[in-house]
Amino acid sequence: MIFATETSCDETSCAVYDGKKLRSNVIFSQIEVHKSFGGVIPELASRSHLNKINIVAQQALDQAGVSLADIQVFGVTHKPGLPGSLLIGLCFTKALAWSLNKSIIGVNHLEGHIFSPFIEHKVPFPHLCLTASGGHTSLYLVEGFGDMKLIGKTIDDAAGEAFDKIAKLLGFPYPGGPQIEKHAAELKFQDFYFYPRSMQDADDFSFSGLKTAILYDLVDRKLYDMTTKQLTKACTLEEKNKVASSLLVCIKDIFLQKIRRALKKYPHCKAITFVGGVACNVYIRSALKNFAQEHGLLFFTPSPLLCTDNAGMIAFVTYFKSKQGAFADYYLDIHT
Ligand code: KG4
Ligand code: ZN
Repeated sequence: MIFATETSCDETSCAVYDGKKLRSNVIFSQIEVHKSFGGVIPELASRSHLNKINIVAQQALDQAGVSLADIQVFGVTHKPGLPGSLLIGLCFTKALAWSLNKSIIGVNHLEGHIFSPFIEHKVPFPHLCLTASGGHTSLYLVEGFGDMKLIGKTIDDAAGEAFDKIAKLLGFPYPGGPQIEKHAAELKFQDFYFYPRSMQDADDFSFSGLKTAILYDLVDRKLYDMTTKQLTKACTLEEKNKVASSLLVCIKDIFLQKIRRALKKYPHCKAITFVGGVACNVYIRSALKNFAQEHGLLFFTPSPLLCTDNAGMIAFVTYFKSKQGAFADYYLDIHT
């Protein structure tokens, strides 16, 4: 029986995995804590983890119908993430493992996302995995459990960060991704402004230019005032919807272009997986699914609660790492 903790950013989560299924996956989201700031405030995040971790851990055990004595291996996200947040989960989990004289395994948060589809699906190797969240955007070739090769990653902002920043510019609440999707749906995901599809000839991604391109386009059309740093009255809801819709189509196109490029290099792939918070986006999910079907590939994406940060995915990685004997010692530390 595996118990795992995830506190790398703004979700406090604990889960129990029995080797076959996820017995519990309790997630406390800090969205309400950070909402008024329009983004995650690291100091508030770690304080909130500290307040909630005991409660979340007890709920995870209760929902799984087990006690600490039933746990053989403890897993914890120890990198990458906000240092203060990672430390809360790590110290908590190490203290449990040490006091019970049980094994501990450190899990890379991104590896958690990469293997999250396996919790609900039988995914073949090799496959391409697109990871897109508020902190990361990368494409991997995944050849086995714990065996993945980075094909390309963002050189600046993550895709989710682009959604969050542009949503903030448009005056939508945090987190921006779901808001952009909602407003884009009003206009049936049409492309009005053809924003730049950056770095088309590279494996890496770049999203920071997108915010600048959108900002200058709004300024040119007198929809944004650079002196007051605010949208003007001319920027109607219809106009905001057009920006949201065009942005979403642009990011979808960038994703498809990178996958197309990777498939040329790795034509033996059997499937595409789409993971991380941005994978909650139904429009992008269905575009990637259609693309996979057209190319004779399988497509997998986790249900939304396993897309955003959660300890269930960390418990799953802890399980296969325990089978591989990849145990840490009690000196396990964070890496940011
Ligand atoms: O994986 P996650 O919970 O946390 C990180 O590791 O960052 O991802 C959060 C990110 C946020 O940037 C949020 O805006 C984005 O995922 N997101 C979405 C959607 N739901 C969440 N982006 C686009 N469309 C969505 N429906
Ligand atoms: Zn994440």
